Amino acid sequence: MSLRTQSSLDVNDDELQQISSESTKLVFEYLTTIAERQVRAENQAGKTLAAIETELSSEGRPLDLLLKECRTVMDLSRHNGHPRFFGYVASPSTPIGAYGDLIASALNANITCWRSGPAGTEIERMVVRWLGALIDYDPQAKGLLTSGGSMANMIALLIAHRRKSGVDSARVGLWNSGPPMTIYASEEVHMSIAKGADILGFGRDQVRVIACDERQRMRVDLLRQKIEADRSEGLRPFCVVGSAGTVNTGVVDPLVELADVAAEYDLWFHVDGAYGAPGSLDEGKKHLFAGLERADSVSLDPHKWLYVPVDAGCLLFHDADAARRPFSAEDADYIKTHGYADEEAFAFWDYGVELSRRFRALKVWMTLQYYGSRRIAAAISEDIALAAYLGELVSSADDFELLAPVELSICCFRYVPDRGMSEAELDRLNERVMAMVQKGGRAYLSNATVNGTFALRACITNFRTTKNDIDETVAVIRAAGELEQIK
Ligand SMILES: Cc1ncc(COP(=O)(O)O)c(C=O)c1O
Repeated sequence: MSLRTQSSLDVNDDELQQISSESTKLVFEYLTTIAERQVRAENQAGKTLAAIETELSSEGRPLDLLLKECRTVMDLSRHNGHPRFFGYVASPSTPIGAYGDLIASALNANITCWRSGPAGTEIERMVVRWLGALIDYDPQAKGLLTSGGSMANMIALLIAHRRKSGVDSARVGLWNSGPPMTIYASEEVHMSIAKGADILGFGRDQVRVIACDERQRMRVDLLRQKIEADRSEGLRPFCVVGSAGTVNTGVVDPLVELADVAAEYDLWFHVDGAYGAPGSLDEGKKHLFAGLERADSVSLDPHKWLYVPVDAGCLLFHDADAARRPFSAEDADYIKTHGYADEEAFAFWDYGVELSRRFRALKVWMTLQYYGSRRIAAAISEDIALAAYLGELVSSADDFELLAPVELSICCFRYVPDRGMSEAELDRLNERVMAMVQKGGRAYLSNATVNGTFALRACITNFRTTKNDIDETVAVIRAAGELEQIK
């Protein structure tokens, strides 16, 4: 094999221009037609692969064919940016956020540390401070961007454990670190907390599940009882997790009281605000988040309610020293920042699991700066107002029932055509209604269990949604319900 004398995979300027303009045309076409599409394309397993070339080409394929297949892939997708997509916690990406991702990929900076990505590291640390300030947590917040809320929550649990264990469990392992250490969270907490406890070796059983009151908020009296009982059995409580926006109903736990309990028992206080923390930008909701500033750590996902494309979570904390403890790679010689000091010696690998990291901050920074915090806050307030409107519509209709108060931007309700139907019948009917609405493609809801009842769940983190979309969604659900009734 001859030695390379010129770049092997670069393209000439004309080809580059073509890749760039044709790809941009496709993005433009997508973003300008998204509202006209079905929310969920008609698709079954295998249809996508049947529609594209599945043999790996040895000689490469022409750009026009490749982009045609990209269009097919887009067409066969579920469109989370559709104005009537209300499933799970997924927001549309802003156009500027999408292009921010492209610029980050073109630059391909690896944000391991300042030396590796000097500009990106400074931007990320600034964005982290902005996020801390935006939600009134800490204008000097420290932290890092993560792949999402699950990763942020897991990192928080590890930091909490290492801070409170009193033993060098990094070296001796959990089995040599004394009696089990326990975590406290409500029955409504996101599953990533139990998953994180499992991955970290604490064990899912060490997550003590505290029952909620009738509004799905953690019961602080039961929390205290459980901590006391565990302590008297020789266990070591180390962390309480509050939710600032639960995934099911969007409820915020009583954060001030949780902070008091954490202080009283010397527990780490983590708040999972992956979905809900940006709700504090709404003046009318600020009071719900009182106490957030006392949390030792907070998860907040820009890819949930700050409209940034997926792969943008964030963990915030006040105390950088506590956060560094579990992750410092003191024995990895090859990554040491020799010859750098102070800010230039800063390394994100000291604060999280990943070594190689995307330049996630670019799309967050571009989104926040392009719109400005006032417009972002207004979009969040509108989402909140639309969820409240949906709540009013279903409460005042004879054939619907609101199942939980609408605290932020999630509305849980069910279709009740006949008040004489049993709970089991209503559960079954609403399951079928949800499936029919999802398949129909005109709107998309997910589900939640609220006090044991199957609920249709609309999570409105969608800057494209208008009042008409809410009206239409109610009409779509009613039509699906009527059809299901006839069957
Ligand atoms: C409250 C809450 N925490 C954590 C997560 C997990 O976030 P991710 O999907 O980004 O890992 C979610 C996801 O919906 C969530 O709603």
